[in-house]
Amino acid sequence: MPRPPLWVMRQAGRYLPEYRQLRARHDFLTVCRTPELACEVTLQPIRRFGFDAAILFSDIMMPLESMGVELAFNPGPVIGHPIRSRKDVEALVVPEEGQVTPFVGEAVRLLRQKLEVPLIGFAGAPLTLAAYLVEGRGSKDFSRLRAFLYQEPEAALLLLDKLAVTMVRYLRMQVAHGAQAVQLFDSWAGLLDPDTYRTFALPAVQKVMAGVADLGVPRIYFANDAQALLPTIAEVSAEVLGVDWRMPLKEVRRLTKDRFVLQGNLDPAVLFAGPKVVSERVRAQLAQTQGLRHIMNLGHGIMPETPIDSVQALVDTVKQFPGT
Ligand code: CP3
Repeated sequence: MPRPPLWVMRQAGRYLPEYRQLRARHDFLTVCRTPELACEVTLQPIRRFGFDAAILFSDIMMPLESMGVELAFNPGPVIGHPIRSRKDVEALVVPEEGQVTPFVGEAVRLLRQKLEVPLIGFAGAPLTLAAYLVEGRGSKDFSRLRAFLYQEPEAALLLLDKLAVTMVRYLRMQVAHGAQAVQLFDSWAGLLDPDTYRTFALPAVQKVMAGVADLGVPRIYFANDAQALLPTIAEVSAEVLGVDWRMPLKEVRRLTKDRFVLQGNLDPAVLFAGPKVVSERVRAQLAQTQGLRHIMNLGHGIMPETPIDSVQALVDTVKQFPGT
């Protein structure tokens, strides 16, 4: 049985010295908006580590600019005018396919000319985007978002629906330019209980997934901190489910009725324990998933302070598996 494919969420970014060097010369938004720079940064981890897939360098928040949202980064997203009322939701533009961040299309096109591995396009899941839009910036518990869902359910559903329609167009544009798989990041799914998730988050996820189903590319749904939601997530129309490290993959597989190829789920903090521990942990995980449909990845994005030699140990261990 061959080894599973490997890529790492947030594999292009601040843990790489070559990324920090480029960032010293250009701010983050400039890198995202300049196809040649976005292309270069996407290629950096492929050149250094030979991952089996590239993920487009951008941010889940970028297409929101095309909806009329004022966006800054410090270092996380900061929204100029957070969404707090039905009027704010109604004012959001739903752009046509060709109007959603055309520079991303160009970056994808350039990348496909240079890449020998598949390119993963991505978008934020509507709930996760709404979390930043309503809260105005990152937060531990996004209590304003949760209050908004309970207090203004119709406005919240309209917001999630507008985001879903825009993300369908955004993803279709990426695939039209050459993206060969798509991942929907639901980093904040775990904020909700199953009923609230089913009412607000799930219909919007399904709308995005249905809107790209005819393209024939694998659809990955990454749901973070979502153990309690797994029986509900089993209904998501996707080929691959990405999960965090908080639950063994075997248990995830059982709760989702073996409906998905699973992606994950090494704790990103393992990479701080040194190359030897990384190798042991990776071998243990691969031994458990051998023969099952699995894409090796971390359980969440790689952290900026991560030592490079640990990432190298992860790559070497996966590539040598099962070894002699
Ligand atoms: O290789 C890659 O995956 C790079 C592309 C990428 C970025 N952000 C670049 C980025 C991707 C796929 C994302 C997704 C993203 N952005 C998510 C979902 C994944 C997750 O981690 O849960 C979320 C929630 C965001 C929002 C966001 N953008 C945050 C919270 C932050 C600040 C915290 C952090 O990790 O830095 C950003 C900024 C950001 N996005 C950076 C990068 C490389 C750092 C900006 C810098 O260089 O200063």
